Amino acid sequence: MKFSEFIIALAPMEDITDSSFRRICKRYGADRVISEFIAADALIRDVEKSFRKLHFYDDERPFGIQLFGNNPEALAEAAKIVAEVRPDFIDLNFGCPVKKVVKKGGGAALLKDIPRMISIAEAVVKSTSIPVTAKTRLGWDDKTLVIREVAEQLQDVGIALLTIHGRTKAQMYKGLADWTLIGEVKNDPKIHIPIIGNGDIDSPQKALEMKNRYGVDGIMVGRAAIGNPWIFRDIKSYLNSGTIPEPPGILERIDICNQHLQSSITNKGERCAVLEMRKHYSGMFRALADFKPFRMKLVTAEDYTEVLSIFDEIAAYYQ
Ligand SMILES: Cc1cc2nc3c(=O)[nH]c(=O)nc-3n(C[C@H](O)[C@H](O)[C@H](O)COP(=O)(O)O)c2cc1C
Repeated sequence: MKFSEFIIALAPMEDITDSSFRRICKRYGADRVISEFIAADALIRDVEKSFRKLHFYDDERPFGIQLFGNNPEALAEAAKIVAEVRPDFIDLNFGCPVKKVVKKGGGAALLKDIPRMISIAEAVVKSTSIPVTAKTRLGWDDKTLVIREVAEQLQDVGIALLTIHGRTKAQMYKGLADWTLIGEVKNDPKIHIPIIGNGDIDSPQKALEMKNRYGVDGIMVGRAAIGNPWIFRDIKSYLNSGTIPEPPGILERIDICNQHLQSSITNKGERCAVLEMRKHYSGMFRALADFKPFRMKLVTAEDYTEVLSIFDEIAAYYQ
């Protein structure tokens, strides 16, 4: 997997980066998007919710499906199921710090069992012709910063690209991401696969700083894209010309929400779409004076027609 251009990727985020949100981010210039993570075991057991996460549209490409688990054979079998829907790549999650994942030996737990992590990567690479990438952290804690050896070993078994989140498992999402080790991996002469840096990119200026300082092949943006999907456009513009476009006006923000909702209704049904959209409103309309009463209405609206009439009220008030 070689890139001629600097990659600005959307981070996979459980309960956020479904197809509808990914398409909004694509519309604003995300170069690469990934599904929410999917448990290999659940996919093999035919769990419906996991199968639904395989759904994507062609306009999301290049699109990857992320798997997690602990058993190399199960991951290889799940990768074969994933390959049937022809994503552009399969991404392996070796970084999730959440208790229910780590307890079963998946996600970041594999940072404590590197041989198993490598067997998983090898088994998945061998099971499919689709490129396999991986996403991990610096190490389990600050005494076990294993990322350099992990990167080399993953590359040796055929991992095509590595994304590194600059935190340890012990840090969860606290403290600041440390990009120093990400830079060391990128600049290690033994490493020739693309390295994408991740952690705390929340502005075009920060993106440029990390690009220049650490020489990574790309950056991945997670939390800062929630309620702010135009950050991809802003970063691109800043990297190319040093300028940042005006933030979207109220009508554009309403249009983004509406597109998000419509796509979500098609994919998940009206009830689920209206409920799930609630977590996006405060970000989408952040910094608007007097917005609280509108937000309260939006997060209690029960159906799409009601949401649309609140959008009309918002448009009328702020225009
Ligand atoms: C709500 C939420 C869900 C996440 N789910 C996943 C996931 O499914 N797979 C994954 O690899 N990382 C997941 N992450 C981690 C992000 O991909 C990313 O590594 C992390 O948020 C740091 O990047 P940021 O500072 O740009 O947000 C999640 C993070 C958040 C906040």
